[in-house]
Amino acid sequence: MEKYINKAKVLIEALPYIKEFNGKKVVIKYGGSAMVDDAIKASVIEDIVLMKLVGFQPVIVHGGGKEISDMLTAIGIESRFQNGLRVTDAATVDVVEMVLAGKVNKSIVQLIQNHDINAVGITGKDGKTLKVKKKLVDGEDIGFVGEITKVNTKLIDSLLENDFIPVIAPIGTDEAGNTYNINADYAASAIAGALEAEKLIFLTDVEGVLRDIDDKSSLISKIAMEEVDTLIQEGVISGGMIPKVECCVEGLIHGVRSVHILDGRVLHSMLLEIFTKKGVGTMFCKYFD
Ligand SMILES: Nc1ncnc2c1ncn2[C@@H]1O[C@H](COP(=O)(O)OP(=O)(O)OP(=O)(O)O)[C@@H](O)[C@H]1O
Ligand SMILES: [Mg+2]
Repeated sequence: MEKYINKAKVLIEALPYIKEFNGKKVVIKYGGSAMVDDAIKASVIEDIVLMKLVGFQPVIVHGGGKEISDMLTAIGIESRFQNGLRVTDAATVDVVEMVLAGKVNKSIVQLIQNHDINAVGITGKDGKTLKVKKKLVDGEDIGFVGEITKVNTKLIDSLLENDFIPVIAPIGTDEAGNTYNINADYAASAIAGALEAEKLIFLTDVEGVLRDIDDKSSLISKIAMEEVDTLIQEGVISGGMIPKVECCVEGLIHGVRSVHILDGRVLHSMLLEIFTKKGVGTMFCKYFD
């Protein structure tokens, strides 16, 4: 009996959060690095479906770093990164678009639809959702890597109004119509800002931001915006974590109320974060407490 009472308590604990987020937009960036295991992927999708069914408006932006690298290796192209961003020549951007818009995007759409919830997969090309210009990294041209100049929310809004979960691959176009690869973290924070989302969640393949990357117990559970530059300069944050923390700051600046980095490999980490008082992962805040 006690078991059932405890289950009921868990549901009741979720009630204030369900009320708070009813009708609110939540942008979830699902990192490619945490997408490799099918069971984990299915559990992330379950969390998103549940959020939808209790009245949230989830919007998914996905990466696909591992899948892109695997495909590039298979066809004999080497992956190179600068400041955590993929160096993207013309041949690479073709592969990026094929893998992200085709394989990764549609697999997420199908997993959602297996729950009888409708999803629509788009890239930033569709409906001119993501307009970009070439992004320079330390003043250097690293190819077709886009910096977002405009988010046009018309298509996303119309999908949400019609009860679809939008699933967005981070590809954009410049004024001349060239195709660009956009780091999915940047795409997620720009989209969250433009949609005036309530929450922005980065699901990745680590516990959160770690002070020592080799020590899981060194999780930093709360970071104030002003600490971020120092953490990058000291080398505490490196590689793919750099764009992610920059995006957390961007999200806060653009009015997103709460921004988190969570471990996408932990079953139901997102549900724990949203529906309980437990803080998991790293949360970002504007100021020190
Ligand atoms: N201080 C740090 N704490 C945690 N992870 C860190 C830190 N510094 C660097 N990292 C690296 O950042 C990685 C996460 O970024 P990565 O770009 O690889 O994944 P992702 O963004 O989730 O996936 P994708 O790029 O495919 O969307 C971690 O796996 C880790 O190796
Ligand atoms: Mg990344």
